[in-house]
Amino acid sequence: MSARYQVAGTTAAEISASIESGIRSAALAPGDALPPVRELAARLAVSPATAARAYQELRQRGLVVTAGRHGTRVRPRPPVASRRSALRPPTAPGLRDLSRGEPDVRLLPPLGAHLAGLAAAAGEPVGYPAAGVLPELAEAARERLAADGVPATELTVTGGALDGIERLLGAHLRPGDAVAVEDPGWANLLDLVAALGLRPIGVPVDDDGPLVAGVGAALAAGARALIVTSRAQNPTGAAVSAERAGELRALLAGRSDLLLIEDDHAAELARVPLHPLAGATPAWAFVRSVSKPFGPDLRVAVLVGDETTVARVAGRARVGAGWVSTVLQRLVLALWRDPAVAGLVDRAAGSYERRRTGLIDALAGHGLVAHGRSGINVWLPVDDETSVLTALRDAGWAVAPGALHRIAGPPALRITVSSLDEAEIPDLAEAVARAVRPAPGAGFTA
Ligand SMILES: Cc1ncc(COP(=O)(O)O)c(C=O)c1O
Repeated sequence: MSARYQVAGTTAAEISASIESGIRSAALAPGDALPPVRELAARLAVSPATAARAYQELRQRGLVVTAGRHGTRVRPRPPVASRRSALRPPTAPGLRDLSRGEPDVRLLPPLGAHLAGLAAAAGEPVGYPAAGVLPELAEAARERLAADGVPATELTVTGGALDGIERLLGAHLRPGDAVAVEDPGWANLLDLVAALGLRPIGVPVDDDGPLVAGVGAALAAGARALIVTSRAQNPTGAAVSAERAGELRALLAGRSDLLLIEDDHAAELARVPLHPLAGATPAWAFVRSVSKPFGPDLRVAVLVGDETTVARVAGRARVGAGWVSTVLQRLVLALWRDPAVAGLVDRAAGSYERRRTGLIDALAGHGLVAHGRSGINVWLPVDDETSVLTALRDAGWAVAPGALHRIAGPPALRITVSSLDEAEIPDLAEAVARAVRPAPGAGFTA
């Protein structure tokens, strides 16, 4: 914990408020350790039960995480705005940053011409009555989804994939409910699950998607929702294969107690076919974001599902944020309709594929087995994340620790290849090989 920050309070509510305030003011940073319950209780002259209640309350709200002997720590992205400009510290100057899991902005379609086109075609300003899902966007989305075998009768639009998933979980689950998530999985989703007070149950993943036995175990443990990434799984690159989809559909068939959510975030970028689970359970939703192929700043995703589920999401949005601006929806529609944009997205997909397979092959040349069937990340199992991460940083490369993505899975690193130049691949593979297997005599010896 930051040596400067003194937790204060004599009731559980005061203590948790004091810690929240520390996070808000950035005196407590993501990853900072909090004192053990007994130590804090002694310091504040309160009972251990009071200190434990304060930690429990913060845990339920996703501000802190308790991990066995590692104690209680501030979550990597607690759901409290911090005064620091960004919760994620900037990468040190001079480091090649492959840690961010973002598309290469140089490969996103430029928006200027389409924004100008929208401006030229703009009619009357849109008021409340005419707002909502743009019918032309819904029609285009239905066509695109039907081409991939996803039934899209009921449809709404959300502010990105995570917004859709949050609304889905909020509509079907209550704090304390268990939700099955891929392990390793998307760090933002793990943070969201924590912030909603839900209990994550990790489902192991291989290159073909979530393991059937893992999903079975999660169901047996009482999971009320299951979230599956269709393709370009973050961080492993897994893509649900036809065979795995068949097995999972058989396992899930008729489970009326489970909400099935599919996240097809890479879609046009994935370069592997979609094998959807949509419709396997009575309650289901399929979410396709435009963030990765067309740009994260568009904040648009299309959400389809069974009638009840879509009506809950759309109805809840109506009494809150309302709808996703029709200006953004029109912009997405214009991008979808432009063959030149489709060409750019396809070029980006090819480029990501070359970078990903290039790195996986180069690592294989050093005897290292890495994963990345689709998408923009390569997942490399290692024995010790911290030592490899540190050695890579010393060699000039920043990559992401697997710890951000794991619940109980083994250690690994995530390398985002989206901005990697193909010419850099041999040097990176060499640096990774050295970091994984330091030369004899390097580093510390017992
Ligand atoms: C697994 C996964 N789903 C969805 C997204 C996109 O989310 P959003 O649409 O909220 O930008 C990402 C982006 O990194 C992702 O990794």
